[in-house]
Amino acid sequence: KGTKYGMKIRDGVYLPNGVKNLSNSKCFKLRDDDIFISSFPKSGTTWTNELVWLIIHNLDFESSQKNLDKKFIWLDPGVSTKIIDDADSPRLFINHLPLQFLPLEIKSENIKKIYVLRNPKDMLVSTFHFYRKLVRDEFTGELEDLVDIFEEGKTWYGPWWSHVDSFVTLPNTFLVIYENLIKKPNETIKSLGEFLGKNLNESEIEFLIESTSFKKMKEAEKTFKDDSRHSKIFKSDLIFFRKGEIGDWKNYFDEVMSKRIEAVVEKNLKFKVNFIYDN
Ligand code: A3P
Repeated sequence: KGTKYGMKIRDGVYLPNGVKNLSNSKCFKLRDDDIFISSFPKSGTTWTNELVWLIIHNLDFESSQKNLDKKFIWLDPGVSTKIIDDADSPRLFINHLPLQFLPLEIKSENIKKIYVLRNPKDMLVSTFHFYRKLVRDEFTGELEDLVDIFEEGKTWYGPWWSHVDSFVTLPNTFLVIYENLIKKPNETIKSLGEFLGKNLNESEIEFLIESTSFKKMKEAEKTFKDDSRHSKIFKSDLIFFRKGEIGDWKNYFDEVMSKRIEAVVEKNLKFKVNFIYDN
């Protein structure tokens, strides 16, 4: 159906072609203060990563703008053991990898996990725009084709429902719901801080909201431009900050597509949550 986008299947999971060497992502020694942020792509990962980094680094906004490469350990493309071992504590691991590609120990109570979840309709619209900007694995189909792919569980890192179910049930996991970050940022950031062992006061929370606002983060994305890897993967400089709203799906889905998503989610997702679809 005009879909040329690339992916390969490994252990029943659909992975982007760019995901290469996963042996290190699974086999390394964890430290008790490691933090893992996991998500299905286009769910609000970049925003959450930034919030978590700032919270654990005492809101050091200036350093956050300088340390772009060193802030996180991005597990998906395959990462060297040296980078993993040499990183300062607390290490912040970010990834979209399904649970079976991560170290077994992450399932234990003493490792902190954060999972980012967004309503699947907005997540899909965001995915649609994202796939279209890929260089090598460009998606040339219509949104309806992507709905087919989603139903088959074949969007990158899919099936989505297995991804969500496997993470939200792990012990010591904080669930960041994208819509909550938008609708009740103070409360959500306060709880995220508590989970990370910080008692954030109101002015700190306001600072975090302000410094991770869509506008500010979009502005900062321009610095990615100089990264040569970025241009090999994406057709445009501005990729990760598109609209940043709840309910953009209404501009794209007709009634039939909308009902199809609801039905497939209802059928397959074990985790029962009332997704927020409206702004
Ligand atoms: P849209 O494409 O709907 O705009 P991820 O980081 O997981 O790839 O998710 C990207 C989505 O999160 C994009 O959604 C992006 O605009 C949105 N996003 C990123 N930063 C944001 C922020 N600070 N505030 C609100 N939305 C944000």
